[in-house]
Amino acid sequence: TREIIIAPSILAANFARLGEEIAAVDTAGADWIHCDVMDGHFVPNISFGADVIKAIRPFTRKTFDVHLMIAPVDPYIEAFAKAGADIITVHAEAGPHLDRSLQAIGALGKKAGVSLCPATPEAAIEYVLDRIDLILVMTVNPGFGGQSFLDAQIEKIRRIRSMIGDRPIRVEVDGGITCDNAAAVAAAGADTLVAGSAVFRGNDSADYARNIAAIRLA
Ligand code: DX5
Ligand code: ZN
Repeated sequence: TREIIIAPSILAANFARLGEEIAAVDTAGADWIHCDVMDGHFVPNISFGADVIKAIRPFTRKTFDVHLMIAPVDPYIEAFAKAGADIITVHAEAGPHLDRSLQAIGALGKKAGVSLCPATPEAAIEYVLDRIDLILVMTVNPGFGGQSFLDAQIEKIRRIRSMIGDRPIRVEVDGGITCDNAAAVAAAGADTLVAGSAVFRGNDSADYARNIAAIRLA
């Protein structure tokens, strides 16, 4: 059985004290820190960029899982690598040259991920499987935290899990993950769970450990 990784999304953290929020979820049992980068172009919202990631990097030693919802992406990959990303995930829909973007991430010595929006079929990544370490299945339309989980994505998770066979690729789910659907996504084949609002709700760091534990237990 695969070890489940829980990656709180700091999109739902209090941006006025991002460093402390990261330290708090680290202490609370987060495995990775999920960083959502949005450009107001690929997705209809703007979050933060490489300089913010660089500034918060010293607050934990855990893996920085950087989800780039930006287009174009290639001109910025190096900046995110230098800012301290460990995993760099690009969207299959962000441009015509996914294979090139993945090669660029690998050449910088970082782990490479591909994300699929809800309407994108798993066939989009069939020919890049040997370049990636992670597949991120969006279980909401990217752009905002706090949206409801899209049930149709369960079947896509299943198909991806069977498509990757015995390759060492993690299957991550992102969007609307709570204690109520964690078991279903894991049963379908997800081994890495992003959670924003379910971890940070209320922005009371006293609750983070309980919130993370509840998802893990589920
Ligand atoms: C959405 C982001 C997600 C989001 C998850 O575009 O990629 O990571 O922050 O937040 P919740 O868990 O609140 O849906
Ligand atoms: Zn994300």
